[in-house]
Formats: sequence, C-alpha cells, structure tokens
Amino acid sequence: MRTARTVGDLRQAVAAWRGEGHSVGLVPTMGGLHDGHLSLVRRARAESDRTVATVFVNPRQFAPDEDFADYPRREAADAALLAAEGADLMFAPPREEMYPDGFTTTVSVPDLSQGLCAESRPHFFDGVATVVAKLLIQCLPDAAYFGEKDYQQLQVIRRLARDLDLPVRIEGVPTVREPDGLALSSRNAYLTDAERRIAPALHRAMAGAVDRLAAGAAPAGALAACRDEILGAGFASVDYVSLADAETLAPLDALDALGGRAARLLAAAWLGKARLIDNLAVSRAGA
Ligand code: PAF
Repeated sequence: MRTARTVGDLRQAVAAWRGEGHSVGLVPTMGGLHDGHLSLVRRARAESDRTVATVFVNPRQFAPDEDFADYPRREAADAALLAAEGADLMFAPPREEMYPDGFTTTVSVPDLSQGLCAESRPHFFDGVATVVAKLLIQCLPDAAYFGEKDYQQLQVIRRLARDLDLPVRIEGVPTVREPDGLALSSRNAYLTDAERRIAPALHRAMAGAVDRLAAGAAPAGALAACRDEILGAGFASVDYVSLADAETLAPLDALDALGGRAARLLAAAWLGKARLIDNLAVSRAGA
C-alpha cells in the first residue's frame, strides 16, 4: 500500500488507475481505525478495483472545547490495518495541504445540519461537509463509503453529493457492534472499564424502544422510556432520543405520518468523557 501526502500525488495515482480502466472506491476516515472502518474498506474493495482510504483528523469539525487534541492519532497502526485489508493507497495529508493559508470556503447543507447532533455541535456538519466535498473532488472516486453509525452525517453527505452533482455513489455501510451491542467508535477508547460496562445500555434501551414502536406504542412514551432507561443505566446525560424520517431527519410524532417512508430512532448520550451516538431502523410490525 502506498501513502500519498499531497492532492497531486493522490490525483496522479487515481489517474494512472483510470488509465488502466480501474474503478476506484474511497473510504474517508479520521484514523483511530477499528473494525467499523475496516468494514468500509472491505465493502469498497468488494465493489471497486482500487481502494483509497483517507486518514485526516479534520480540525474544522471540532469546536475549540472539543477533543481535537485528544482524538486518537496512530498513523503507523492505521496504515498496517489498511494494508492488511488490501487498501491500495492511504491519503494522509498534513493540515496545510487540506487548509492552506487563506482557505475560506465552507460547504453547508443547512436543513440536514440542524437538530439532533447539531444541537450540541452546531459547527460539526459544516466541517464534515467541507472536508468530504474536498476529498470527493480531490479523488473523484466511483463510490465513497460511510458508516451508518454516523447517520445524520451520512444523510448530509448524500445530500451534498446530490446537490453539487458530484459523480459519485454514496454508500452507507451498516454499523459494526461489539457482541454486547455497543457500536464501534474511535471514542469508545475514552471509556473507563466501569463506563465500558454501562455503555451497551444505550443500544439496549434503543432496541427496546424500537420493539415498542413496532408493536404500536406512541412515540412520545417510547422515547421518554428510552431516555429514562439510558439515564437509569448510569449515563450522565442524554443529548437527544428522537424518532425521525430516515431520509429528511424531520422529527416524527407518529409512524403513521410516514406513509411508505422509513423511520429511524437516533440517540446521543454522555458517559464520562465520551459522547456516544447510535441509531436503529424502525418499522411497524407487519409493515
Ligand atoms: O466519520 C468520520 O470519520 C469523519 O467525520 C469524516 C467523514 C472522515 C470526515 O472527517
């Protein structure tokens, strides 16, 4: 596996593959790789002739009081994992390659970047949309792969690719979980042993709410019970537990209001230093 540090080197590699008639898959990451990221690489490899993985901790998606400095950075280990999965190229640019002096543009997807995670991280989705738009334009892959765990992010990226007519398929890949249900996340590394034992309660409470909603429970009661269960398990606070249209992320008071459209249950909650997020598909039994 080769490493590229500049946009020029990335483009040269992709142009050479294109010249040989190869398709290209892109897996954007911030490093700190775990099996969730590697599942994106596997999917890209299965669907593309050549796979590029990016490792860039994007400063523009962190607020000044967030964990940019602490975010796991272990490029050599990440490179070894990517090589073992058969990635062809790791694009790991320095900050000044992505954001040279004078960089000023922001890509914004306003509707989908409101509510849910944006309530507590208002800067986040503009930072993600800007860096992902850059990565897609720099690499121009046939497809780019993102985890469903970051569901609001995935919807923002789908919309930006559609709105900007970027000639790329945006593929969502199912969340990878620990055997106890905890969604894999680089931020799970912040959990103490005691917090790690509590953490699966987020998924457990959400799965219970999905079952109750599927059985016809009213969303308000099911969401309130889910929030109580998360707090009762030992989480410090809950940012949100929300039922939403799976595509527009508009909040839903009732599943009936959806017609044939899909619904999603989404939640974020704090456990020690870690803000954990998760989401699950919701459907009415028999629907
Ligand atoms: O999900 C992530 O790891 C990041 O938000 C992404 C998409 C790589 C953009 O920095």
